[in-house]
Amino acid sequence: MGQTLSFTLKFFGDQLFAKLPETHADLTGRTFLVTGSNTGIGLGLAIHLARLQPAQLILAVRDLKMGEAAKESILRETRFKGSLEVWELDMADFASVMRFAERANRTLKRLDGANLNAGMSSYKWGMTPDGWERILQINALSTGLLAVLLLPLLQATTRLPPPHPDASKTPPHLTITGSASIFLAKFAERSGTQILKTLNDESKSDIMDRYFTSKILSLFITREIANLSQAEGVVVNIVDPGLCSSEIGRDLEFSAFSKSTCFAVFSLA
Ligand SMILES: NC(=O)c1ccc[n+]([C@@H]2O[C@H](COP(=O)([O-])OP(=O)(O)OC[C@H]3O[C@@H](n4cnc5c(N)ncnc54)[C@H](OP(=O)(O)O)[C@@H]3O)[C@@H](O)[C@H]2O)c1
Repeated sequence: MGQTLSFTLKFFGDQLFAKLPETHADLTGRTFLVTGSNTGIGLGLAIHLARLQPAQLILAVRDLKMGEAAKESILRETRFKGSLEVWELDMADFASVMRFAERANRTLKRLDGANLNAGMSSYKWGMTPDGWERILQINALSTGLLAVLLLPLLQATTRLPPPHPDASKTPPHLTITGSASIFLAKFAERSGTQILKTLNDESKSDIMDRYFTSKILSLFITREIANLSQAEGVVVNIVDPGLCSSEIGRDLEFSAFSKSTCFAVFSLA
């Protein structure tokens, strides 16, 4: 209870007053990828990275047309001179995740930053063709799978010479977009022994809580990945962007979303 109150106070404090540090690192010669980069936070991140002029920036998107539109807007807004590529990635499809990772491992000479940002929210139950509840698969399972599959390339990058003689020694980063909404999760499904099975059973789990729970699972997955030997030398982190204006609420009835979020914040406080 006390923890939720302090979270609530911090949340509103940060939303209203925090000033984010803006990095201006020189990314010359480096390669980055951002998932879910056709809109929202991912597009904002891709624009920021493009301004820092890496050699290669990959927009990982599930709709190539939307990816091409994002590419045009990035080129319009920045003076990006490197290679800006649009690659297909559907996080609701494990085969697509594996194809994407295989392409990255086969074709990229280095990977300095993988920003696994794609995510969704909904109050409607839906299954992917792989047989998983879609928020669970997109936000947690596929994010973890992609992270594990990209880790060897990120680690191999630690052994490469710097991209140019004056380059900083910044290690490769694996960064997952998390959410402070984990503090609102009830995650009642955790009480049984078969947590994933319960989470995948509509009759036994709470879809209203699913987004929050999926973000807790992302946090647990990130911690496990950070402990792998293949993560040695790689910065593995999970970041909370705060509450941002984006399309994350597109599948939510806004009034229901805001009511339940406010209810969750204030009833727990
Ligand atoms: N906005 C916030 O206040 C907030 C707060 C905390 C954390 N976050 C997290 O920030 C991340 C980005 O969200 P956002 O707010 O920028 O929302 P957004 O505007 O809806 O963007 C979500 C991105 O994820 C992509 N995506 C969704 N399902 C996908 C799939 N199956 N395969 C591949 N890509 C998929 C979307 O692609 P399409 O356009 O093709 O659907 C879109 O590019 C998410 O992980 C979210 O949980 C957001």
